[in-house]
Amino acid sequence: MNSITISPQKKTTPSVWSESSIPLVSVLAHELRNPLTNIMLTVHLLESKILDDNDRMYIDIIRRSSTKINDLINDLLKGQRKDEIKTEKHSIHQLLDDVIELASDRLILKKVIVKKNYAPYDLKIKMDSPKIKIALTNIVINAIDAMPSEKGELKLGTKLIKGRCAVSIQDNGIGISKENLPLIFEPYFTSKQNGVGVGLAATKDILQSNKIDVRVESLVGHGTRFILLFEKNRMTAKIRNLNGHQHTITGNRMPVLIACEA
Ligand SMILES: Nc1ncnc2c1ncn2[C@@H]1O[C@H](COP(=O)(O)OP(=O)(O)OP(=O)(O)O)[C@@H](O)[C@H]1O
Ligand SMILES: [Mg+2]
Repeated sequence: MNSITISPQKKTTPSVWSESSIPLVSVLAHELRNPLTNIMLTVHLLESKILDDNDRMYIDIIRRSSTKINDLINDLLKGQRKDEIKTEKHSIHQLLDDVIELASDRLILKKVIVKKNYAPYDLKIKMDSPKIKIALTNIVINAIDAMPSEKGELKLGTKLIKGRCAVSIQDNGIGISKENLPLIFEPYFTSKQNGVGVGLAATKDILQSNKIDVRVESLVGHGTRFILLFEKNRMTAKIRNLNGHQHTITGNRMPVLIACEA
């Protein structure tokens, strides 16, 4: 009979649960899966019993949200594995569309209008896309939280600034005061009744480890804009010249400014 015994930490044999072996975030993500599976199974059972269209819509939202949490947990668990840290080239427009899809139920429930103003060419950037997706989703969810129901307008833009890809996420929400602005990336800073204050602290870590600069502009009563600036030498762009031929340019050969519309 084969057996293995995991005992509480001895100095000579590090525990498989220790921070150095498996990061706490992976343990947490793993544990979240159990109650999530229960939710998904219960929703599945309820689906066959609910006939009213309105109630079905709410069940659909629970099902879609649970699936999204499950996908995020899978991405997170994969991303934490040391052998699978991936910095692959990824379309920034695709990434933003994925983020909007992740937040779609919240956008629908709050009746927020989404306006996209993407650069007319596809920008591909070398990055750890599952983590960047989490970072961008945190920014978007905060933007949705800050906006009033039925009057919210979320603007997403991409453009090149001095040869660097800039992504802007802008809301017309409550804005951030001058006093609070320097605090928003601090762990556990929150102005929300049910907030934890973890979203932007985690976002900052992810952006920093992917060498992305972030700038936040805000006006109380008018709204907030997050601008993310990606590193120049991680980018490629497919551009058509005047006679319609498509060509790819990379990193430092990127023109200073191709298009500029926020
Ligand atoms: N778009 C925004 N508009 C207004 N305030 C914002 C915006 N984004 C962030 N903030 C402010 O920054 C604070 C910190 O945001 P953060 O995402 O870290 O925490 P949270 O949203 O309060 O809680 P959670 O941990 O659940 O995300 C918010 O409580 C809010 O005061
Ligand atoms: Mg948040």
